[in-house]
Amino acid sequence: MKTRVLSGIRATGRLHLGNYLGAVKGMLELQANPAIETLYMVADAHTLTTPYSIEELKKNRREIIIDYLAAGLDPKKSIIFQQADVPEHFELAFYFSSVVSIGRMQDLPTFKEKVRQYPKNTTMALLNYPVLMAADILVYKAGLVPVGIDQEPHLEIAREIARKMNALYGMDFPEPKRFATKGEYVPSLKGEGKMGKSIEGSYINLTDTKDVIVKKVRGIATATKGGGEMSPGVKVLFTLSELFIPEEVEGFQKEYHNGTLQFVTMKYALAEGIFTELRPFQEKRKKLETDPGYIDKVVRQAAEKAKMIASQTVREVRQKMGLA
Ligand code: TRP
Repeated sequence: MKTRVLSGIRATGRLHLGNYLGAVKGMLELQANPAIETLYMVADAHTLTTPYSIEELKKNRREIIIDYLAAGLDPKKSIIFQQADVPEHFELAFYFSSVVSIGRMQDLPTFKEKVRQYPKNTTMALLNYPVLMAADILVYKAGLVPVGIDQEPHLEIAREIARKMNALYGMDFPEPKRFATKGEYVPSLKGEGKMGKSIEGSYINLTDTKDVIVKKVRGIATATKGGGEMSPGVKVLFTLSELFIPEEVEGFQKEYHNGTLQFVTMKYALAEGIFTELRPFQEKRKKLETDPGYIDKVVRQAAEKAKMIASQTVREVRQKMGLA
């Protein structure tokens, strides 16, 4: 059997530079390998784990599919689908919930963070988030998951569930590993934490125009004139430069240390580098936007393919657990 890969992005907004470098680049790399079968979804049902707007969800899940296609995910090579089109994920998540304890879920840093963020919405769906994610992966028996490093605690849960299901019910689930990419940690433009769509002002959208990118990059706080300990903003500037203009970094570093660095010059160079990387994506996206019928066809056909694999796993689990 081919190695299977599954990944997903929540339908809470459009893709930004952080998703692109942390997840989508890895997805593309794996898609290019013919020895690997790749499944990429938009985790629309995961959106229900925190407060959401129905209209936004409908819009965003489609936007993410278009972003995927514009970034180079290819329906001839990958199964590009919407999670909720394959309800087998939800059935499997319920079976999985019988082998994980409430305490283990409550202790997860990702859960605690959401509880802090939404103290009035600590639902069962939120507690179950990692269990559903484990089902997303294991319903395809996927062994490799291209996601950002922040998802590691969730993958650990998936591995624990796989081990338990194998030991208790004789399943043959792989223990899924993370597939890391070079830009897996993209810092927030604000200088603290990672670039994330829930933090306003922290990110660059893949569809941002050159002017917007220049404005956002210029907004990175670089109060110091160079030399000495780097401030958080300066560090962000250098980290992003490593990712987008690696060949220019050494020069800027020298200038920083001898105190001659003009931050504005470096910022323009970085903004230019980011825009150069995004331009082909933006051009492709414009074309895709004019053909909604094509998008519909891609997700419909992908759902059928995904269902064929997922339904087999669910049937097997039902049998082994005494439900069939
Ligand atoms: N939790 C992931 C994130 O926030 C999204 C996700 C849901 C996912 N299900 C998945 C990622 C399965 C990889 C595999 O980015």
